[in-house]
Amino acid sequence: MLDTFPWVDLVGAPTPLERMSRIGEVLGHPAIWVKRDDCMPLAFGGNKVRSLEFWIGEAKAQGSDMLVVAGALPSNQCRLTAAAGAKLGIEVLVLYAGDSEAPLRGNAMLTELLGADIRRLGPVSEEERGALAQQAMAELRAAGRRPYLIGDPFVGALGYVRAAEELTAQDLQQGAGLRHIVLPGSMGVTEAGLILGAALLDRDWRFHLVSVEYDAAELTARLTENILGAAALMDQAVPTDLMDRVEIHTGELGGGYGVVTEASLAAARTMAANEALMIEQVYVAKTFAGLLNLVRSGAIPKDEAACILHTGGTPSLFEQ
Ligand SMILES: Cc1ncc(COP(=O)(O)O)c(C=O)c1O
Repeated sequence: MLDTFPWVDLVGAPTPLERMSRIGEVLGHPAIWVKRDDCMPLAFGGNKVRSLEFWIGEAKAQGSDMLVVAGALPSNQCRLTAAAGAKLGIEVLVLYAGDSEAPLRGNAMLTELLGADIRRLGPVSEEERGALAQQAMAELRAAGRRPYLIGDPFVGALGYVRAAEELTAQDLQQGAGLRHIVLPGSMGVTEAGLILGAALLDRDWRFHLVSVEYDAAELTARLTENILGAAALMDQAVPTDLMDRVEIHTGELGGGYGVVTEASLAAARTMAANEALMIEQVYVAKTFAGLLNLVRSGAIPKDEAACILHTGGTPSLFEQ
């Protein structure tokens, strides 16, 4: 499905699909699985590595000689762009929004260690950050460079179309019989790729998006746009019943993006104490809290296998 797209290998071997038997005991559910996208060779890994495989593929195909990425200090995308640049020998400029005096910890500390050129933008809005990124791109071009701006959501979603292929093969090989996939609902890139990929592969998975950022209408709009965009890139028709397989859960949002809840703190402890699996608070702990609720309420029945996508973000454990 993806053979025609330029791509670089950053993930390496498939990330593990593991049964969480101790969590299964806690829940009285025999088949709770985890797809370990936190387990990748590149600088603590995570979902953004899969998108970077296609972003950097495109950058190389366009003859770019450097990568530009913008984000907040806790951004996993900035850290992993710096990591990919270091690994592949490509210069990286990171534009960090937020208090310019704030210390570089967790993800940002790693970005610096990885040798990226860091520019601090101060406390700008998301819109201003985008405009400043475009300005940096124009300045670099004027200086004779060929920069590539990381972050196109449609290209980025291709990484999770590929992950859907990987998970399908593992599901069949390991006899998991997955029926429910639980994952964070955020910008809708990872989600779009996985949902589109699964549909194109005819999987009968139901998707539970645990929103960590937006209300249901906003998340649905982002998701739909990204699914249509990625499908258009792939020259594929989108199955008309695609969104029937998707449920959005907003019950874990609490005080909003990045704000911990009692449930997310408890979920992280349950995961660590029973599976020795570390999950951070912005994305994965809220998602796992959502999974616990879905099983306890019977929305995920005991005779249907479920899998949580661990999207990584591990270094932010050291920012909390
Ligand atoms: C660890 C982690 N999980 C989930 C997400 C959400 O992914 P998406 O933006 O594709 O919705 C991100 C995005 O920053 C992330 O870093």
